[in-house]
Amino acid sequence: METRIFENTPQDLKAAAELIRKGETVVFPTETVYGLGANALDAGAVKKIFTAKGRPSDNPLIVHIADFGQVKQFVAEVPDAAKVLAEKFWPGPLTMIFKKKPCIPTEVSAGLDTVGIRIPDDKTAREFLRECGVPVAAPSANISGRPSPTTFSHVLQDMNGRAAGIIKGQDSEVGVESTVLDLTSDIPTILRPGGVSAEQLREVLGEVLVSSELKNDGVPKAPGMKYKHYSPKGQTYILSGTAEQAAAFVKRRCAVTTVAVLMFDEFRDLMPDCAKLLSLGSKACPEEAAHRLFDCLRECDALEVKEIYAPEIPEDGLWRAVRNRLYKAAAARIINVADAKSVLFVCTGNTCRSAMAEGLFNMSRKNAVSASAGLFASGGGAEPNAILAAAELGADIKNHESTQLTYEMLENSDIILTMTESHKASLPQGFNIKTITEFAGVQGEVNDPYGGDIEVYRSCAAQIKSLIERVKL
Ligand code: TXA
Ligand code: MG
Repeated sequence: METRIFENTPQDLKAAAELIRKGETVVFPTETVYGLGANALDAGAVKKIFTAKGRPSDNPLIVHIADFGQVKQFVAEVPDAAKVLAEKFWPGPLTMIFKKKPCIPTEVSAGLDTVGIRIPDDKTAREFLRECGVPVAAPSANISGRPSPTTFSHVLQDMNGRAAGIIKGQDSEVGVESTVLDLTSDIPTILRPGGVSAEQLREVLGEVLVSSELKNDGVPKAPGMKYKHYSPKGQTYILSGTAEQAAAFVKRRCAVTTVAVLMFDEFRDLMPDCAKLLSLGSKACPEEAAHRLFDCLRECDALEVKEIYAPEIPEDGLWRAVRNRLYKAAAARIINVADAKSVLFVCTGNTCRSAMAEGLFNMSRKNAVSASAGLFASGGGAEPNAILAAAELGADIKNHESTQLTYEMLENSDIILTMTESHKASLPQGFNIKTITEFAGVQGEVNDPYGGDIEVYRSCAAQIKSLIERVKL
C-alpha cells in the first residue's frame, strides 16, 4: 500500500480526515504515543487497523474524540466521576472505560460491553479529530510487539506501506501511553498505568485501585496487558544492586557479548564505555525517562545488541508507567547483581548445542545470564532445526550468531559448561569448567545433533533443557 505523508497544515489535516471518513487508516501524533486511527463507527475500517498492526483482534481499541460533549453519543451512562476527571485531565493522557452504546462496533470493543475513550492533548491530534467529525479508534501505531512510536521516524519504520496516511507531528511529549482507568467497577481501577498517575487520580477521586500488572494469575482486565509487549530483540534484564556493582557486572558482560545499558545520567561516569550507553535522563525526573524510554528500546534493536540492562525503577507517580513498560520489555527478569552468575556454554561450532543451551537457559529465570561460543565457530546463524527445536520449547534463538570462543570470554564467565568431555579437555586450565552433565550431576554427554533430522534436534534440546533444570548455581 502506498502511504501518503501529511504535514501539519490545515489543508493536509483536512485531506487526512477525508481518508478517515472514507474508511482508511491514518497515523496521527498524540502527546502519549502516535496512534493508528480509523473511523470507530466503521467496522470495516477498524479491521484494517488490526491487519496493519498484526494485532490480535481480542484486544479492544481506545476511541479518540475532540470534545467532552461527544462522550454521551457512545456511552450508555456517564458517571459523575467522569465529569470531574474530564475537567481535570482532559485533554490529556487518560483513557476512561465506560459501558458502551450499541453504535460502538464489537471490532472496537473486542466483544466487551465497554469502551475506552480519550481526548488527546496534542494540538495536531485535536485539529485532526475535529476535522474527522467521527470518533477515531486508535491503538499505538507500532507493529504488534514493538515499542510504541513516539517520533515520526519510529512511525515510518513500522507503518510506511501499512497505513493509508501518516501525519507528521512533533515527538510525543509524554512518551508512554495513557492511563487506562476503568469506571465501570465499584472502585475506579487503573488497568494500565500511564501518563496520569494513581496519586493524581486519588487526589480527585479518593480511592483508586491499581490492578496487578505483571502477575499472570488470572486473566488481566485490560486484554492488552497479557500480550508480549515492547520486547526488544536483545535479552533484557533489570539490574538490581548498587550502581558500582552494576557497572562491574556490565563490564564483564562486554567481554563476552554485545551489551546496551539504559541508565540514568547520574551514573554515566561509572558505566564502562564498552557498552552502548543510552540515557533515560536524570533519576530525579520521571518525565524525562518516560519521554525517552521507547526511543531507547528501539535504539537497542537498531544496535542489534544481545543483552540489554536497565535500572530498577521506583513505583510512585509517573515512574509506575515507566516501570511497567520496562519490566515488560524485560519480561520481569530481575538480576540481583551481587550474587548473579555468568554462564558460558561451549560446543564445537556454536550453531546447535550451545546455541540451544543459551536460549533455554535464558528462559529458566535463574539469577544468572548466559552466552555461548564454539571451539571452531565459523559464523552464521543457528541451524534451522536447532531454531525450531528451541522454539518448540519456548526459546527464541533465531537471531543467534555463531561466535568463536576467546580467552577473554573464559576469563569473564563464572561457570563454563561444555557439551562433551573432549570439549572440556581442549580448554585451558584455571577456569571453572565442567561438562553440563557433570554440573547437573548426571552421567553421559550431549551428543552433536548436527546433520540429524528434527527428531534428533528435539531430543537434544529436551536433554539440554532437563540438564539446565537440574543445574544449581
Ligand atoms: O496513549 C494511548 O492510550 C495510545 C494513544 C494512541 O492514544 N493508545 C494506545 O492504545 O496505547 P493501545 O491499543 O496500544 O492500548 C490500549 C489499551 C490496551 O491495553 C487495551 O486492552 C486497553 O487499553 N483497553 C482498551 N479498551 C478497553 C476496554 N474497553 N476495557 C479494558 N481495556 C481496554
Ligand atoms: Mg499499544
